[in-house]
Formats: sequence, C-alpha cells, structure tokens
Amino acid sequence: MRILGIETSCDETAAAVVEEVDDAARPWVVRSSAVASQVEIHREWGGVVPELASRQHIRDICGVVERALGDAGVAAADLGAIAVTQGPGLVGSLLVGVSFAKSLAAAWRLPLVPVHHLAGHIESLFLHHGPLPLPAMVLVVSGGHTSLYEVRTPGRYRAIGRTRDDAAGEAYDKVAKLIGLGYPGGPVIDRLAKGGDDRAVAFPVARMTHPDRNEPLKKGQWDFSFSGLKTAVLRHVRARGAGWAPSPQEIADLCASFQRSVVEALVEKTFMAARWYGARSVGIAGGVSANSRLRADAEAAGARNGIPVFVPPLSLSTDNAAMIAAAGLRRYHAGVRSDLRLNADAALRLDEGE
Ligand code: KG4
Ligand code: ZN
Repeated sequence: MRILGIETSCDETAAAVVEEVDDAARPWVVRSSAVASQVEIHREWGGVVPELASRQHIRDICGVVERALGDAGVAAADLGAIAVTQGPGLVGSLLVGVSFAKSLAAAWRLPLVPVHHLAGHIESLFLHHGPLPLPAMVLVVSGGHTSLYEVRTPGRYRAIGRTRDDAAGEAYDKVAKLIGLGYPGGPVIDRLAKGGDDRAVAFPVARMTHPDRNEPLKKGQWDFSFSGLKTAVLRHVRARGAGWAPSPQEIADLCASFQRSVVEALVEKTFMAARWYGARSVGIAGGVSANSRLRADAEAAGARNGIPVFVPPLSLSTDNAAMIAAAGLRRYHAGVRSDLRLNADAALRLDEGE
C-alpha cells in the first residue's frame, strides 16, 4: 500500500509518498518527500503573509507533486489513496492542497483521506521510530502550535494542554524580529544562544506547581504561555534606550537567556504531565523540536525520569508531507474516507479520535 500525502497549511508546499511494508518495527517507509519552502518570500515581510502564501502554493503544487511521484518512481496506478491536510492553518493555503487532492482523487479514482496537521506532526514520530512505547506524552511545538497530547492507543490523540497565547516558535520569531535577527527566528536564536550566558538576563520562566494526587487537576494545569516572556524581552530592549547598539556578546546572552526560559517551561511541563499520566515515552514534534537545547534538555530529563525521549529527524520536524501521508495511512486503515465535498477547516480541532 502506497499513499500520496499533500500538505499546504502554512508556507511550505509539500508532497510525499509513504509505503507500508511488512515490518512491525518500522511499518512505514518514506519513498519520497518534496518540499518547496516559501521562507525567502516571507522573510522580506518578517513573517508569513497569507495572501502571498496561497498564491505561491498554486504556483508550486503541480511541480511538487510531480517531484514526489518521480522521486518515488511511482505512477497513479501504484497508489492506494491520497491524504491531505484539512486544517488547521491558513485557509487560503489549505484550500490549495485540499482542492488539488480532491481533483487528483477524482481523476485517478482514489480514496481521499483528510488529515489534521497536528496528527501529522505526532505521526512523524511513529513514521521515523516505529511504534513508540504507549502511553506516550507528545509535545507538538511549532510556529503555530504548542500543545500536549496523550496517546494511549495509536491514532487517538487526547489534548492535555495548549498555549494560551503565543506558540513557542512564534515567540522565537517575534523576539528575533525585535532584536533584528530576521525570519524565521528559531534557527538563528538557537545558533547565537550557543555563545551566550543563559543566566545573563533574568527572564521569567512560566513555572508551575506540582499537581497534588489527592486533589483534582487544576483547569489549564498543562497549558503554556509565552506572551509574558516576549513582553519581558521587549521591556529589556526598551530599557536600553532607542540608540542601543548591542554587542554580539549581549545579543548572544539575550538569545541564551530567552531560550532557557522557553525550553525550561516546555520540558518541565511535558515531563510533569508524562509522570502524572504514567507515560512510557515522551515525543517532541514540530518545527521547534529542531532546537538543540530543547533536544538536549529533553534527553537529560528523560534520563532522569527513566522515560525514553523520541524526536523526529530535522527533515520530519518542520512541515512536510511524509508525516501527512503517515497519518493518512493510519486513518485509511481506520476506514476514514472523504467525498468531494471535503472543505478546508482553518480551525480544525484534534482531541480524541482522529
Ligand atoms: O512546524 P513548522 O515548520 O511550521 C509550523 O507548523 O508552524 O515550525 C516552524 C517554527 C518557526 O517558528 C521556527 O522559528 C521554529 O519552528 N524553529 C525553531 C528552530 N527551527 C525552526 N525554533 C527554535 N529552534 C530551532 N532550531
Ligand atoms: Zn506544522
């Protein structure tokens, strides 16, 4: 069984072919994964411009799908289904992928499987590592999302917590813009932070109280918040006056201190939730899972807690279609199909079921 995945929820046009093989330890194999990134287009504006994104998806989608099929060496007749990201994301962007997938499904008479973008990020872990020890506590952390999901059964995702304001990647991008480091901010802050002192600036860490087993969980116990930290960085910069020309060391210290606050909040909450729910593994997926400190700190916390930590390779951590194809395979086997009335849903929710 081979499935074509299509992803256009934000600023990456992606298509991939994933094949199911007879190997219980690693049942899914990526045959191809093509991504056309729009980063260069949006960099000029300091962030993703939705109208530019949808127009570029239209330009790129044919070529990207052809490349995915060509790289995999397959034709329509070799495919068993088409999976597409239905949401959440930018509605104009999503519509390009959904319309294209519907057209292909109709022309090639293939089943169409709608996929939730975050289910794709979660399944990137199973795609790369094979079945994770369950239950798993999975942190999906990207430019648009910071959410915790408990996975007890493959393909069922229970929402445990989410950000109340900015996503972690969004905080990276906004802080980078504020100190003139360009877009996207995550990779450059990650790199500069390596040369900085992470205690140079005392930014707040969204600390939490340990949940008490004898009392009911507080509402929002596992939620995140990053807007306070973003404001603290803004205040730190403003306090230095309009003519502030920070030295490279000051920039590095700022990056390291900001990064420590973000990563400590993410790791602390994820592992507290993992312990509370008796998780046998922790997964971290999404664009920010590429962060070197997050990876290192999560590994260390995993070792301390005796819980193995799983992170996708870089190619599967930022937006791609292989993860959508994988989530599509899972749903295909669960009998999920869509007819040609399928519509994009910018605010699609993921909680239990698929
Ligand atoms: O998953 P993704 O490609 O797109 C969304 O679904 O949002 O994630 C993109 C986000 C951006 O905010 C980017 O700054 C962040 O991931 N990012 C990083 C790193 N690489 C990418 N954040 C921190 N450290 C990194 N190394
Ligand atoms: Zn994403």
